[in-house]
Amino acid sequence: MAAENQRLATPRPLTVKEVFDLVREDLEKVEKEFGRQTVSSINAITEIGQYLQVSGGKRLRPVLVLLASKLFGFEGDPAIRMGAAYEMIHSATLVHDDVIDKAETRRGQPSINSRWGNHMSVLAGDWLYMQAFSIALAERNFKILDLLIGLTQVMVEGELLQLAYIQKADLTEDDYFELTYRKTACLFSACLRTGALLADRPEEEENLLASYGINLGLAFQLIDDVLDFTSSEKKLGKPVGNDLREGKVTLPLIYLLQMCTSEDAQNVTRVLQDGGFKNVAFADVLEMAHRYGALDAARNKAKEFAEEAKRCLRIFPESIYKEALMSLPDFIIARES
Ligand code: IPE
Ligand code: IPE
Ligand code: MG
Ligand code: MG
Repeated sequence: MAAENQRLATPRPLTVKEVFDLVREDLEKVEKEFGRQTVSSINAITEIGQYLQVSGGKRLRPVLVLLASKLFGFEGDPAIRMGAAYEMIHSATLVHDDVIDKAETRRGQPSINSRWGNHMSVLAGDWLYMQAFSIALAERNFKILDLLIGLTQVMVEGELLQLAYIQKADLTEDDYFELTYRKTACLFSACLRTGALLADRPEEEENLLASYGINLGLAFQLIDDVLDFTSSEKKLGKPVGNDLREGKVTLPLIYLLQMCTSEDAQNVTRVLQDGGFKNVAFADVLEMAHRYGALDAARNKAKEFAEEAKRCLRIFPESIYKEALMSLPDFIIARES
């Protein structure tokens, strides 16, 4: 049904279930496509592809591609294929990231690197990138290819930048946002832009949707960085306190260092230098982050991006898909996993 025919009597925020219901059938097709596209004559690739497929994951990137195309009344296989391609790119970045971070757990189970080792993980990640490009190539759309290539370079540069920033206690807010744009927001933005490109919409609409994606992605990563302090491994499927352990300076920590006494700051930087909680307990850093209001401040910043994301949608006509996109920023702020 065309988007304009599926209007709510009065626009209102949708529930998570209502949003997923809008794309459920298409998401099942994305899952099938992902499974079909991760088969190789080399067993290790197929096994890793299978493992990634059944390991869960929120499938947020395909949801973004699907909602963006549906916003413009565009339905069909290209959106399904590009949804799968983006989930593959996301998977490849996670596989490589877990090698770099020596992460043992992802999505509540052993990470690819801890099951298959670093060598195979790096190669499987490379293969996934190439497979995603090959899916995109089949669309014969240079704008989409251009977008994917630029995106991948920006993300890889982001991981390199992240390495350069390890244990850097004087990281600035600007440094953090550049990094966050590269590692997360750019991918969100590309998913949304792809919806507009598939529907061949004017550049103004494409750019607004891309800006929505950037703001949504910044909010998403900011909340992820807050949850690294406040959540649990059970909920997140990956250990908490991990950013500090890995020497990653995130916005809650930047705010904490700005707000706290020099004595407290010494303790925080000690954790970064130690690469763990040998001398200062995680609970102590968490207590400080709460007490100084650093976590609230980071959460408020995420809320600002969430509101800005919604403002980017103003010009689009009312439809159920617009309501879904309007609801996503709030889900992202409220998420616990
Ligand atoms: C993990 O992304 C990487 C970040 C951007 C924090 P998700 O939290 O979307 O990962 P999955 O796909 O749901 O596991
Ligand atoms: C890397 O970021 C994942 C990407 C967004 C590319 P992190 O290292 O902070 O993500 P997690 O914590 O491992 O999911
Ligand atoms: Mg990581
Ligand atoms: Mg993280």
